[in-house]
Amino acid sequence: MCGIVAYISRDLEKRDKIEDMLISSLRRLTYRGYDSWGIGFKGNNKIHIIKNVGDIENVNKLNLGFENSLIGIAHTRWATHGGVTKINAHPHLCCKKEIAVVHNGIIENYKELKEELIKNGHSFISETDTEVIPHLIEEKYKLCNNFEIAFKEAIKELKGSFAIVAIHKDFDGIACYRNGAPLVIGISSNGYFVSSDVVAFLNYTKKAIYLDDEEVAILKRNERDIELKIWKNEKEVKKEIKEISWNFEEATKLGYKHFMIKEIIEQPESIRNALMQNEKEMLEVAMEILRAKQVIFTACGTSRYAAIIGRYLFSKVARKFCDVIMASEFHYFSDSVDKDTLVIAVSQSGETADVLFGIKKAKENGAKIFSIVNVMNSTLARLSDKVIYTNAGPEICVAATKSFTNQLVVLYLLAYSMVNKFEEARSNIRKIAEIIKKSIEENNKNIEEIARKVKDKDHFYYIGRGINFAMANEGALKLKEISYIHAEGMPAGELKHGTIALIEKNTPVVVIAPKDYTYYETLSNAMETKARGAFVIGVTDYAHDVFDAIIEIPKVEEIFYPLVTIAPLQLLSYYVAVERGLNPDKPRNLAKSVTVK
Ligand code: AGP
Repeated sequence: MCGIVAYISRDLEKRDKIEDMLISSLRRLTYRGYDSWGIGFKGNNKIHIIKNVGDIENVNKLNLGFENSLIGIAHTRWATHGGVTKINAHPHLCCKKEIAVVHNGIIENYKELKEELIKNGHSFISETDTEVIPHLIEEKYKLCNNFEIAFKEAIKELKGSFAIVAIHKDFDGIACYRNGAPLVIGISSNGYFVSSDVVAFLNYTKKAIYLDDEEVAILKRNERDIELKIWKNEKEVKKEIKEISWNFEEATKLGYKHFMIKEIIEQPESIRNALMQNEKEMLEVAMEILRAKQVIFTACGTSRYAAIIGRYLFSKVARKFCDVIMASEFHYFSDSVDKDTLVIAVSQSGETADVLFGIKKAKENGAKIFSIVNVMNSTLARLSDKVIYTNAGPEICVAATKSFTNQLVVLYLLAYSMVNKFEEARSNIRKIAEIIKKSIEENNKNIEEIARKVKDKDHFYYIGRGINFAMANEGALKLKEISYIHAEGMPAGELKHGTIALIEKNTPVVVIAPKDYTYYETLSNAMETKARGAFVIGVTDYAHDVFDAIIEIPKVEEIFYPLVTIAPLQLLSYYVAVERGLNPDKPRNLAKSVTVK
């Protein structure tokens, strides 16, 4: 979703070239998904804006002559209100073009505000909700002639979930406000960044201050330095400076063609990082899960499929039943969520609006919140009573790969901790990481060939039973996301209750069939599709005539099959996308961090 980055330089002598910095920082945010971009500088007593639709990768240098500017704001837009046009791209300006604003999120009451502002003589040029913000600040400015006060007054009238950064041509600083969408301040030796995401400034600094909801930050240049003040409800607050644990190199391609293949290949290593958990803390969390009267997982997309696998693991290993509710539907069940409920939220980004909304509601009802999160200090992590980090490092490809696998590892460790076998699980998974490494190397060519055979198909079906049913869902989601082929994942037994009507000659059916407790039943369902002409691709360690093609997975202890099944499924979707000439890292319409409901 939209990405914000702003920069204020500490002093004139040691300044960085702000144009170059903002472009390179914006490029690092493009992985979040975007359709247009824009940059604004304060200089020569004016605000200067450049914006466009499409790719910022091709913009080498803006050459606006504002390298000497000390303050700039920039934005990648993922359209919500209004189409993908240059006019709708941010920054947006007020009538006098003296105030510029970038924004992530949604201003829910923008219509009412716009009508009021129009009555007061303001004119609008875009279809966005964002444009009301500079006009509203301008309206307040008329009354006080002070940008800082005008900004603080304006934000009081905004409703919704958003993050905002604003500048004024006469104000030697930056004003920021966070209410529901992430905003973090990076402190480098030469200046301060403000961004939706630490990845934007990771190559400049690892020191960060994370804003919380309803916090206003004003960064103001004085004689030789920058003053940073943060307020919440008009009271000044002191915030801790945190150290970011990620490395900049982890967020680069390191010679790989795409982030997706890099992130698939680095899974054995990221699994080892996921295993770095404190045994005592895991046991405590596991005991609380066991004790809870009601346990509900909530998550979206890939993270939800990890949660479904977690549900099977908790039941199979520890006989602990729990439910999984997709986050966008979770609050509709809030009548049944109370102080005896333990909610486990699973999220890579920790910023998914649906997840945050659901857990806030559950918290209001007295529920306890545990979370399994990848991004450190993310909003979800900070809202939770307990957090387990998945330690996958930065995941840049929009399609989740290593973060999913690491979520599974944490869920295995938790399930085994419930029966006091944390160390047994850890040592098993450590061995499995090595097996996965070998399997990826050995499988690559074969999967590429299968991908070539099926790349032009319009529909795919993925089936599996028990713990493998969520793997079928995840395989299908990966294919849809990056190759734009319609794909459905479902429990194999459910196929004959309707979907089998869609199977025609050569329809690819991917069968998740490890030699486990589900094998023979799944095979019968595969045969039913074969009898209707399907091209059956078995993801298996046990060959059978029903399979027209086989993606071989290594033999492991039955319960651990999901860990060795996932990379082949990810590789299949990767190669299909590449064969179709698509860039798997930046799928159309999708965003890495879905910060709107
Ligand atoms: C995964 O490939 C998708 N990009 C998407 O389904 C994602 O898993 C979902 O939006 C949830 O994101 P989160 O894990 O950051 O909460």
